Amino acid sequence: MADTRPIGVFDSGIGGLTVLREIWRACPDESTVYFGDNSRAPYGTKSKSTVIKYALQNARFLESKDVKMIVIACNTASAYAYETLAGKTDVPVIEVVTPGADAACRATKNGRIGIIATKGTISTATYRHAVERRASELGLDNIEITEQACPLFVSLAEEGWWDTEVARLTAEEYLAPLKAAGVDTLVLGCTHYPLLTKVIQEEMGDGVTLVNTGVATAEVVKAALAEHGIASDGASVTKEFYTSDEPELFESVASPFLGSGLPAGTKHFNTDRYEI
Ligand code: DGL
Repeated sequence: MADTRPIGVFDSGIGGLTVLREIWRACPDESTVYFGDNSRAPYGTKSKSTVIKYALQNARFLESKDVKMIVIACNTASAYAYETLAGKTDVPVIEVVTPGADAACRATKNGRIGIIATKGTISTATYRHAVERRASELGLDNIEITEQACPLFVSLAEEGWWDTEVARLTAEEYLAPLKAAGVDTLVLGCTHYPLLTKVIQEEMGDGVTLVNTGVATAEVVKAALAEHGIASDGASVTKEFYTSDEPELFESVASPFLGSGLPAGTKHFNTDRYEI
């Protein structure tokens, strides 16, 4: 029987919409509830204990919406909080790091993989470990990983400065070590980076494969729905949005991240009311 409960998706703010849009594409029969914690963003510069607390509060809210699955559509929260969160909820929890690592290992030809992400995500080495684990499972020898934090990319994406001179100069600076390392695959390990795909691809060159973790994650969501027998049938698909900041503000900046269409009827909710 079809399970019509929604999939819960959360992020520090609007970046997770780049993951949500891929979930919509891969799982068109599913209803979703999205929570953007805009009032407490960014997560990428916060401490581990803070991000874990925020993630648990956000999950508590999604559980109150009777979700059948929680997707942590934020690389920083995935890196810091996945294990804690997965141990505290009854529904399946999907994070974005492992799917990205898997896609990178499958894409690389020369074994040199680059990872770009927020300072928080890079500091955990979660991506590095996930790539090493997956490479070993796939029997890939001689994997070389180069990591680089690119914090300014988040601001550039939010400003809408995707295809500008300042974006090109920033990319040149950040990506120089990855080019020097000869990576042939680059993981966009932050929800905001897919918006800068054009500039990043131009800087890295056509021969480098960019891994959009949202695309890889959506495939994992689809497979997990089937595995747990909780897929829906598309009979009545709903799309709800919540933000911890002002709904008008959320809707005014969300569109490019979502790709098409505006989130409508966004409601306000503060998850910091939950005791953790
Ligand atoms: N969503 C965050 C991530 O993917 C980027 C924005 C932030 O720092 O909150 O790491």
